[in-house]
Amino acid sequence: MTPIALTVNGRKIEALVEPRTHLGDFLREHCRLTGTHLGCEHGVCGACTVLIDGEPMRSCITYAVQCDGVAVQTIEGFDGDATMQELRGAFSREHGLQCGFCTPGMLIAARDIVRRLPDADERRIRVELSGNLCRCTGYVGIVNAVGSVIKARASKATAPVAAPAAPPAAPLPSFVATTTAAPTQVAPPAATDESRKGWTRFEESFVIMQPPAKVWEVFADIPLVAACLPGVELTEHDANTAKGKMTVKLGPINAGFSGSAAIERDDQGKRGFIRGAGNDRGSGSRTKGEIAYRLAPENEGQQTRVFLTVEYNLQGSLAQFSRSSLAQELGRRLVGEFAGNLNARLSGTGAPQSRNEPLSIGRLLWMWLRGLFGR
Ligand code: FES
Ligand code: FES
Repeated sequence: MTPIALTVNGRKIEALVEPRTHLGDFLREHCRLTGTHLGCEHGVCGACTVLIDGEPMRSCITYAVQCDGVAVQTIEGFDGDATMQELRGAFSREHGLQCGFCTPGMLIAARDIVRRLPDADERRIRVELSGNLCRCTGYVGIVNAVGSVIKARASKATAPVAAPAAPPAAPLPSFVATTTAAPTQVAPPAATDESRKGWTRFEESFVIMQPPAKVWEVFADIPLVAACLPGVELTEHDANTAKGKMTVKLGPINAGFSGSAAIERDDQGKRGFIRGAGNDRGSGSRTKGEIAYRLAPENEGQQTRVFLTVEYNLQGSLAQFSRSSLAQELGRRLVGEFAGNLNARLSGTGAPQSRNEPLSIGRLLWMWLRGLFGR
C-alpha cells in the first residue's frame, strides 16, 4: 500500500492505496463519489472523465498513486460553477441525456469545450466530444446543448474564462534534446481554409548534426526517412509518392494505418510538403494530413535546423486521441524519435533508437502523466 494525499472537490484526503488502483475506483470506492462512472475502463468511452488540476482526464487510466498532491474535481464538485449550471439546464432542455450513464463525463468534457473554445461551431463541438461515447442519444441533443450554451454566452458577451494552465511538458528523453518545444522561427503556416476546421496543428523543430545540403540529400532518400519513423513500413515509392503502413499502439488498441503520400520538394528553398491519407480497417478510423518542412543552417552551416508544421485530422473511433495536449505530446515524441534515429544513422554512432517499433501511445500517456505529476 502507498500513502497519497490529494484534494478531491476541495476536500483534503489522505489514504493508503494499492499501486494498481486506478483513480476511478479510488473515487467511487474510497471517496464514495459514485458520480464518476466506469464504462470501458480502457480510456476509450470517456464516462470516467474528471478534472485533474483543471484538465479533463480519464480516471480509469490514471493510477491513484499518480495523483499524490493534485486537485481532483468530480461531477459532484461543480455545485457553485456557473458554466456547469448552464450546461445542466441545457442538457435537460435539449434532451442531451437518456439513461445518464455518459452524462457526468459528457458534462465535464462539455464544460471544457465551452471554456476553451468560445467560438466552437457544431463541427468543432462534435470533434471535441468524440472522446465521449453515448449509447442512447445519438448525440444531437448533446451537441445542441453545448452549442446553445456557447451561443448564450457569446450573446451575453460573457468574457471567456481563461483556459486552465497547460500541464508542464513531460521531460524528454536525451535523444530528443535537439528538439525545441518553442522554436524561435517557424515554417510558414500551411494553408488554412474552411475544410481544415477542427484539424490538429502543431509546430516543431529539431537539429540534424549535418550541413543543410547533406540533410536535403538525405530527405530525398525515402526508404531511409521511412526507416527512421517509428512504426512505419514502406511498401512502394518513387520520387514523388510513397505507400506504406504506420502502426501505433493506443493502449489496448493496435492501429495500423495503410495509406499513401504525395511528396513535393523545392530544391532552391530547401523546403517541402508531404500530403497523405490513410485508414485503419480494424477501428474504422481515417486520417489525412500535411507536413510542411524547411531547412535552415545553424552553427555556421555545420548543422541544420528542420522546421516542421504538421496538420492532421483523425476521424472515427480513434479521433479522441487527436485532442489537445496529448496530440501535441505525441507529435513531439514522433519528431523526437525521428530526429534521434536520423542523427544516429547519419553519424554512424549507433542503431536507431526505435528500431521501427510502433509508437506506443500507452507508453506516451504514462510518460505524459508522469511529467504532469512530477514523478
Ligand atoms: S471508463 Fe474510462 S474511458 Fe471508459
Ligand atoms: S445517455 Fe445513456 S449513454 Fe449517454
